[in-house]
Amino acid sequence: MNIAVLGVATTKFGELWDTSPRVLVREAVNGALADAQVALEDIDAIYVGNMLSGMLGNQENLGAFYAEELGITAASTKVEGACASGGLAVHQGVLGILSGLYRRVLVIGVEKMTDHKPEHVASALMGAGSDGERIAGLTFPGLYALMAHACMQKYAITESDMAAVAVKNHYHASLNTYAHFSGGAGSRSAGQMTIEHVMQSPYVADPLKLLDCSPISDGAAAVILGEAAKTTRKSTVHIVGSSVATDTLDLADRSGITSISATVRAAQGAYKQAKLAARDIDVAEAHDCFTIAELMALVDLGFSDGMKKAAQQVGQGAFTLNSSKKLVVNPSGGLKACGHPVGATGVKQIVEITQQLRGEAGKRQAANAHIGLTHNVGGSGAVAVVHLLRS
Ligand code: COA
Repeated sequence: MNIAVLGVATTKFGELWDTSPRVLVREAVNGALADAQVALEDIDAIYVGNMLSGMLGNQENLGAFYAEELGITAASTKVEGACASGGLAVHQGVLGILSGLYRRVLVIGVEKMTDHKPEHVASALMGAGSDGERIAGLTFPGLYALMAHACMQKYAITESDMAAVAVKNHYHASLNTYAHFSGGAGSRSAGQMTIEHVMQSPYVADPLKLLDCSPISDGAAAVILGEAAKTTRKSTVHIVGSSVATDTLDLADRSGITSISATVRAAQGAYKQAKLAARDIDVAEAHDCFTIAELMALVDLGFSDGMKKAAQQVGQGAFTLNSSKKLVVNPSGGLKACGHPVGATGVKQIVEITQQLRGEAGKRQAANAHIGLTHNVGGSGAVAVVHLLRS
C-alpha cells in the first residue's frame, strides 16, 4: 500500500462557542487544499468522519451537507464509528484511492460538542456502548474506570502511574497552539501540570479523576489523499498501512478488559501490510481518551513489554519529546490535552503525524521522525483503526 498524503490541516481544538461546524470545516478544508496545492474541483470524493451530528445537531446527512457547503457535487459519504469515526473515514479514503475509482479524496473529521449540556453529551456518547451498559447507567468515564480497576488489580498499576500520562500529554499540548489545553500564563496546562495536580483533581469515576479524562471539545481536521505516483512534493508522506478490527460492544462480553484486542489485531494487520514492526515507529498518536487507555495502548501496539513496564517508562520520562528513548507518543497532546472532538480526532492524528514526518511540527517536533503510527478507538474498544505513515 502506498497512498500519498497530499495536504493536511486542523482547526484549533477547544471550546469554540462562537464558531459553527460549517466554519470549522471550511477552515480545515481550505487549509488542506492550500497545503496540497489542489483545487476543490480536483476532489473526486469526500468522506466525513463524525459521530454526534444527529444526536446533538439534528443533522445526519453530513456527506451531502458538507459537499453543498463546499460548493461541489462529488461523491460524499458520512462515516460513523463512535470516537473512531475519523480514523474510519481515512480508511475509506484509502480504499477509495486503492480501488482506482478516485484519484484525489478529501477526508474531513468534525465534531461540535461544547454547545450542549455535559449530561446530554455524556448520554449521546453512550450511543457507542451496548444496550445493557446504557440501561445500567454507565458512562464512558465509568467504562474506562472499570478497565482501570482491572489493570490496577492485575498489574499493580497505581493512580499515580496513570497521572504521569496526563502530565506528559499536557506538557506536549503546551507546545501546540492548536490544542484545547495549549496553555497560557497562569494556566495549569501551561506545561506546569504535575502528578499532584492530577491526584488532587476531583473523581469523575473512581479511579479516574478530572485530569485523567479527555475533555469535551469542538474542532475539525482535513486530509487530502491521492495516488502516490502522481505526487510532485519532495517531502511527501505516504500511508503504508491501514487496518481496522472490531470486538464486542459490551465490555462484559470480552474475555478480558485489561487489553483492547481490536487494537492488537488492527496493529498486527497494519504492521503486516507495511512490513514494519513496533520497534520501527518513531512517533505515534495513540487513543488516550483516558490516561489508562494510553497505558493499555502502549502494550497493545507493541511499544512496551507489559503494563507495569509501560507505566514505569512513562514515569521515567519515556515517550516524551526530547527524552533519550526514540519513540514519542502523543506529541500533539493526544486526546487528553489536545482535545477530543470525537469525529475529528482520527483525522487530526493523521495531520499531526504527517507534520511530524515532514519535519514541520515546530516546538513539538520529534527528532529523526521517519515512520509514524496513528491509533483511533471507538467505544470502549469495539472498533480500532491503525494507520502507518512513512516519509
Ligand atoms: N482535562 C483537563 N481539564 C479539564 C478537563 C479535562 N478533561 N475537562 C474540563 N477541564 C477543566 C476546564 O477547563 C475547567 O477549568 P477552569 O476551571 O480552569 O476553567 C474545569 O476543568 C471544569 O470544567 P468543566 O467544563 O466544568 O468540566 P465538566 O465537569 O463539565 O466535565 C469531564 C469534565 C471530565 C466530566 C468531561 O470533560 C468529560 O466527560 N470527559 C470525557 C469525555 C468522553 O467520555 N469522551 C469519550 C471518550 S471514549
